[in-house]
Amino acid sequence: MKAMAFPRYGPPEVMAMADIEKPVPQENELLIRVHASTVTTAEIASLTGSPFIARLATGLFKPKQKVLGVEVSGEIEAVGASVSRFTVGEQVFAYCGFNGHAEYICMAEDGIVIRKPENVGHGEAAAAVDGMLTAIPFMRDKGDVQKGDQVLINGASGSIGTFAVQLGKYYGAHVTGVCSTGNVDLVKSIGADEVIDYKKEDFTSTGQTYDVIFDTVNKSSFGKCKGALTEGGVYLTTFPTLPVMVRRLVPGKKGRKRAVFHAAGLRKPREKIMDMVFIKDLLEQGKVRSVIDRTYPLEKVPEAYEYIEKGHKKGNVVIKVSED
Ligand SMILES: NC(=O)c1ccc[n+]([C@@H]2O[C@H](COP(=O)([O-])OP(=O)(O)OC[C@H]3O[C@@H](n4cnc5c(N)ncnc54)[C@H](OP(=O)(O)O)[C@@H]3O)[C@@H](O)[C@H]2O)c1
Repeated sequence: MKAMAFPRYGPPEVMAMADIEKPVPQENELLIRVHASTVTTAEIASLTGSPFIARLATGLFKPKQKVLGVEVSGEIEAVGASVSRFTVGEQVFAYCGFNGHAEYICMAEDGIVIRKPENVGHGEAAAAVDGMLTAIPFMRDKGDVQKGDQVLINGASGSIGTFAVQLGKYYGAHVTGVCSTGNVDLVKSIGADEVIDYKKEDFTSTGQTYDVIFDTVNKSSFGKCKGALTEGGVYLTTFPTLPVMVRRLVPGKKGRKRAVFHAAGLRKPREKIMDMVFIKDLLEQGKVRSVIDRTYPLEKVPEAYEYIEKGHKKGNVVIKVSED
């Protein structure tokens, strides 16, 4: 089968189409014919092997996994003998972690895979997995976003950001999105009550305070945002900066302003599967939609990573692996 592989760490050019063995499902596995995967910003570290510390997980001298692609949507082509929850022909979407940029993937039936909502295409379904599985624990669990809260999302036009804005509205918050001029209309279109254009205004110096500031793209700091938090407000970040990690070791008094980093990717599979069901419901009800910036064919995956490396994608970038 065709896959986009990378034999060594490096820039997107190190990737090349490869003909690799089609996987055979084990007893408890599903063989999924992949229709769509995506390219995500977090994967750049796995591709380049930088920062070096990331290699502790991905392989010290060369990548352990040769095919990227963390989320997929597709159709079940075969099932192992003991599989009972899925049947051939069903459409599913999944968090696979690696190996999404290939024509086929095998996943355990109790993996992070569930039936795809019928009202969205494979590209939209695949694109909703990683961004939502990250935005949900931040907004719901760490931010405890409630009706009437003032919530600010920095990086509101990115993958996590576009989902965080929509989740904030779902939980009944007053949501302010921060993005650049060209993305103001997009962020309004997904429901933000207010949009701050960071090219024109610094959200930390408007005088407005927020119960939750969620910096999805690591472009601010707790120190700078503290003045824009309400008493007891929380600053959330997707990136483990030293000051935030040090604060984690020194718990502040109750009711104080807090800074929280969370490694959403390290949550237990069980929790992620439950959130997949929640994502499916939200997509079905039209409460959340995936923003798709561009779609590339499998052969153009390196170009897709080159594009997202620049740091300005809008929502998600989809890879069309095969026809729907
Ligand atoms: N902690 C976790 O568990 C976890 C899980 C997944 C990902 N992550 C990390 O989360 C981060 C965000 O991921 P993502 O996929 O959402 O990123 P993304 O989609 O690549 O974010 C791109 C967006 O960032 C915006 N942006 C760039 N500079 C900005 C600035 N100065 N102020 C505000 N917005 C700015 C861009 O908007 P403009 O074009 O308008 O500038 C663009 O729309 C990544 O670093 C990723 O590694 C963490």
